[in-house]
Amino acid sequence: MEKLVIRGGRPLKGSVQVSGSKNASLPILAAALLTDELCVLEGVPALRDVATMIRLLRNFGAKVTQEGHRIIVDPRGYQNTEAPYKLVSTMRASFCVLGPLLAKHRQAKVSLPGGCVIGPRPVDIHLKGLKALGAHLNIDGGYVYGKTRELRGTTIYLGGAYGSSVLGTANVMMAAALARGRTLIENAACEPEVTDLANVLIKMGAKIQGQGTPVVAVEGVRRLNGFTHKVIPDRIEAGTFMLAAAVTGGELIIQGARPDHLGAVIDKMKEAGIEIKGQDGSLKVSPRKRLRPVDVTTLPYPGFPTDMQAQMMALMCQAPGISVITEKIYPDRFMHVAELGRMGAQIKLEGASAIVQGVRRLSGAPVMASDLRASAALVLAAMAAKGTSEVSRIYHLDRGYDRIDEKLTRLGAEIQREKME
Ligand code: EPU
Repeated sequence: MEKLVIRGGRPLKGSVQVSGSKNASLPILAAALLTDELCVLEGVPALRDVATMIRLLRNFGAKVTQEGHRIIVDPRGYQNTEAPYKLVSTMRASFCVLGPLLAKHRQAKVSLPGGCVIGPRPVDIHLKGLKALGAHLNIDGGYVYGKTRELRGTTIYLGGAYGSSVLGTANVMMAAALARGRTLIENAACEPEVTDLANVLIKMGAKIQGQGTPVVAVEGVRRLNGFTHKVIPDRIEAGTFMLAAAVTGGELIIQGARPDHLGAVIDKMKEAGIEIKGQDGSLKVSPRKRLRPVDVTTLPYPGFPTDMQAQMMALMCQAPGISVITEKIYPDRFMHVAELGRMGAQIKLEGASAIVQGVRRLSGAPVMASDLRASAALVLAAMAAKGTSEVSRIYHLDRGYDRIDEKLTRLGAEIQREKME
């Protein structure tokens, strides 16, 4: 196991390139299971979750080659339709193979993903959508056993207690692409990652309209082709760098960041007193003058992303006054609160809200990462803090950020990756 040793107090400066989106790459790789032709995905970030998806595709019998950030999937003749617990339990996005397997092979056995530290994370929306398309699904021994004679298009309201589902929409959209007739997905997730997947499916020959809106229409086709596609930039990585600049009082140009995907984050950061400008395919964050507290509520896209909540909290820990941060996607996603407290942050939890009383300066401390975005928040807080911090369990960070410690070091942060004793 490794840890990051971070000496705080150095403003970041320079320019950084955003990697391709993790959360777009994973379902797009699963879409390769819908075809018998070569699929090429470019700009894929080098991450543990991507490696897990590759192992899963190989497990089905697809041939996968990786040339740097380009992944080539040759699904010809793949026969296995079982996704084992050991792969699905480590990464929830694996559950996205259920729709493609059912659509292509009319049968599948896919392990349930289980809960995770950010909350219970059920899959009822996925199952509801696939059942509506005509799949017979049984749960036994922790697995979903799926069978269908034929998937048939229909109108599906795809919502749950917390609104739309990103991977649920992806799963159902992929299945509907090969179903007979027209499917109308109501309350579809509008996240850019879902739109990117829809655009890939369209390249494959699918007939889809309304992607990026809450109503997506899919006219099923008999077969789908392969594709070549460059994945969209990772808006959460971009947002994390924007906040890294802000917490350290630095100045960064974030290349490849798409302002159109980051509206809510840019808006809240500006409200907090950070100057942000879009320029030629990049975003520039200028050194802050005076930080102001802001209230933030996470919501489905285009609202403020839950995947940026922890990092935004790291900034608000230093804003004089009170900020209220409310989680409307994962009400339990506050594992970072206690760790930030170890660094001197003043945060009180009240239900799904964190009440943050800004302090002048955080102080370095040993802290433990609990999930991917919480880890990023701790790294940000450590870079802003006085003194040295040790962030342990950084395997969470490596699941979703492509060499973030190297990128931050090049921007002036003092970060060392060390083996834990
Ligand atoms: N939900 C249900 N039933 C379902 C599915 C979801 O009740 O069947 C609930 C969830 O528990 C949550 C809400 O609906 O309260 C939204 O969950 P969603 O299904 O949209 O999440 P997801 O698709 O499983 C993706 C990202 C997450 C990100 C969420 C929300 C991937 C691989 N994961 O998860 O990313 O937080 O959307 O935007 O795309 C991360 O990257 O750190 C991460 C956790």
